[in-house]
Amino acid sequence: MTVSLEQLRRCHIAVDLGAARTRVYVKGVGLVVDEPSVAAVNMRTGSLIAVGALAEQMTGRTPAYIRVARPVSGGTVVDIDMAQRMLRHLLGEKLRRQLRRKPRLRAAACTPHDADPLAQRATVETLVGLGARRVELVDTLIAAALGCGLPVEQPTATMIMVCGAATTQIAVLSLGSIVTAVRVPIGGEAIDNAVIQHLRQHHQLVLPSQSVRPLQLALRGNGLTLNGPATTEIHGRDVVTGLARSVEVDTAAVRQAIHAPLTAVLDGLGKVLRDCPPDLVADIAESGIMMVGGSALLPGFDQMLREATGVPVNIAERPDVCSVLGLGAMLDGTVQPLSLAPVAG
Ligand SMILES: Nc1ncnc2c1ncn2[C@@H]1O[C@H](COP(=O)(O)OP(=O)(O)OP(=O)(O)O)[C@@H](O)[C@H]1O
Ligand SMILES: [Mg+2]
Repeated sequence: MTVSLEQLRRCHIAVDLGAARTRVYVKGVGLVVDEPSVAAVNMRTGSLIAVGALAEQMTGRTPAYIRVARPVSGGTVVDIDMAQRMLRHLLGEKLRRQLRRKPRLRAAACTPHDADPLAQRATVETLVGLGARRVELVDTLIAAALGCGLPVEQPTATMIMVCGAATTQIAVLSLGSIVTAVRVPIGGEAIDNAVIQHLRQHHQLVLPSQSVRPLQLALRGNGLTLNGPATTEIHGRDVVTGLARSVEVDTAAVRQAIHAPLTAVLDGLGKVLRDCPPDLVADIAESGIMMVGGSALLPGFDQMLREATGVPVNIAERPDVCSVLGLGAMLDGTVQPLSLAPVAG
């Protein structure tokens, strides 16, 4: 499926439905929604109790009749009805009223590289349910590359790595199109799970999902590969007694646990480079790899890639919102016309 820049300029809103966060950009206005893709539902009445950050705070803290749902999983909308209800609430009444005034609402959405037709259909249906008459799909890799200002339209290679929550997408782009790309089903969630599993196995500690980030931050500054403070204190619940307990965790061992999922990402990176024509590999050795996506902020991830590949690695200025900002720039017409149309799927 291809979509021209001209068609994208006619769109009114750009949506990035991610496994972790939902972002919405309104043409001429900017980023209006950047919230967790979470909705809390009252199972007795079927009503929505909360969405976004508020619903995420409820995770693991709700009574049985409240279900915390994640309508997007693995980069795909898995519950169209819930995704529509979540988006409606995230947009708010005022913005929805403004959008309703558009006689033929057009929407653009990011779609993961190589998304199958069913996944694409789910994204389109979600937005059609919100009133969009037409939905244009753009490959996340193209949107993210534009969002972080990579010169994708040039006849030199640029390499981008979109590190999301559910997937990592890696591509070499040249002349406005994808030359080679892979999508690895490993992202921030798998890294968090590796940390949770490590603490459960080696310290018999159940870590609340919200506590994974502080542990990652304890590794900050030391990187995944360098030596830092030997231990850090972590609070959790004892697997056996169920009581609150804190343990001194060996940071080197946590780094080791994180390495396992990251190896799969390195494999994907190697595959893209191996499939890439030699001239373009020479360009990348000079220009390096641009990291975007929320997981690009994982402490030391860039350093690990630098050591594994030997090429410069940079993190985009606002890595988490690059994709939606790139899509938004296409709507606003502030990007150079691409020599070739962006490709979706
Ligand atoms: N400072 C940080 N350090 C480590 N990880 C982080 C940080 N900030 C965000 N993340 C991770 O980034 C992920 C979210 O990234 P992003 O918002 O790009 O995902 P997404 O677009 O919702 O997912 P996907 O594109 O895979 O559907 C989460 O897994 C989160 O744990
Ligand atoms: Mg994403």
